[in-house]
Amino acid sequence: MTSPGGPSLRGPEGENRVLDPAVARIVEAGGPHVPPLLARVEERLVEVAGSYGEVLAEHATATISAGGKRLRPLLVLLAAGPDAPEEPLLRAAASVELVHAATLVHDDVLDDASLRRGRPTVYATAGRDMATATGDLLFSRAFAQLVQNESVDQVRALSRASSALARGELVQREDAWRVVPVERYLLRCELKTARLFEAACELGESVAGAPPSLGAFGRRVGLAFQILDDVLDVSGPAERTGKHRGTDLLDGTVTLPFILADLGIDPRSVDTRERAEEVCDAIAATGALDESRARALEYVAAAKDDLPDLPQRRALELVADSVVERYS
Ligand code: IPE
Ligand code: IPE
Ligand code: MG
Ligand code: MG
Repeated sequence: MTSPGGPSLRGPEGENRVLDPAVARIVEAGGPHVPPLLARVEERLVEVAGSYGEVLAEHATATISAGGKRLRPLLVLLAAGPDAPEEPLLRAAASVELVHAATLVHDDVLDDASLRRGRPTVYATAGRDMATATGDLLFSRAFAQLVQNESVDQVRALSRASSALARGELVQREDAWRVVPVERYLLRCELKTARLFEAACELGESVAGAPPSLGAFGRRVGLAFQILDDVLDVSGPAERTGKHRGTDLLDGTVTLPFILADLGIDPRSVDTRERAEEVCDAIAATGALDESRARALEYVAAAKDDLPDLPQRRALELVADSVVERYS
């Protein structure tokens, strides 16, 4: 799996997909067992996405093979450590990424998004009905994988995270176009993103038979991840994030930088791409981006500080750091 350009994963047509550099560093720090496991997770994902009817398989496979950082399955592998049984671990890691992929396909319908992972969304290419069905398929295949581990605790952990995700999207719709208090914004991030990171850690530990100790780490990293995702939407640059600045705002999603900037602008009045860019500049000028980043960094620091002294500690610290470095 190691190539001259750094670690890579093999895609469904045998092509090499180079890993995001921050993710590649984590993989290396995780120990020699991690690269082959991650490659097998990849194979499993492609297999699962392609094995449930041709029409849906086409879109599910396109979503999976379009890439993505694979941060959540990596977290499952790291949380488990080197001695976990391989097959249950693969199922757990694949199931978390399948839930993630499902939520992205559905999220793009809700957010009216045209691009995902640098490619047209299922919603854009095949419409709402197909995107809804593809997301549903990915959800159901995720649980079909995990249930083979015959662990009620694991199914419960993934189901809790999936329900939280759905609730998070509902909270986001409810709060659309409104400048909500910071606590309410954080609740949304927690539900939409942090809970799946938490579940990734819980699943890894459960498969390894380790006492649960990493859930809070996952949750904090997930919170920081979503805050920084929202910062990137405002800061860009578009060439690095792959999307126009201010996309969230145009869609009515009012995030931490806008809330902290306190510009007195009605989100509804931001109705063109040009205006959205102007508002992004205005937000940046108040220092609200730096303040939002600082808040995310506090979660990253707390996540690292509270890490138990495990052999995989260094790799987990790099996971927390990768959230800060990311650009897509
Ligand atoms: C995107 O997650 C959705 C958010 C929670 C912000 P990722 O940035 O991990 O998406 P991929 O899997 O790498 O495409
Ligand atoms: C995260 O929300 C998506 C999910 C957790 C389902 P966003 O809407 O901010 O994610 P992107 O920006 O579309 O990746
Ligand atoms: Mg979205
Ligand atoms: Mg976003």
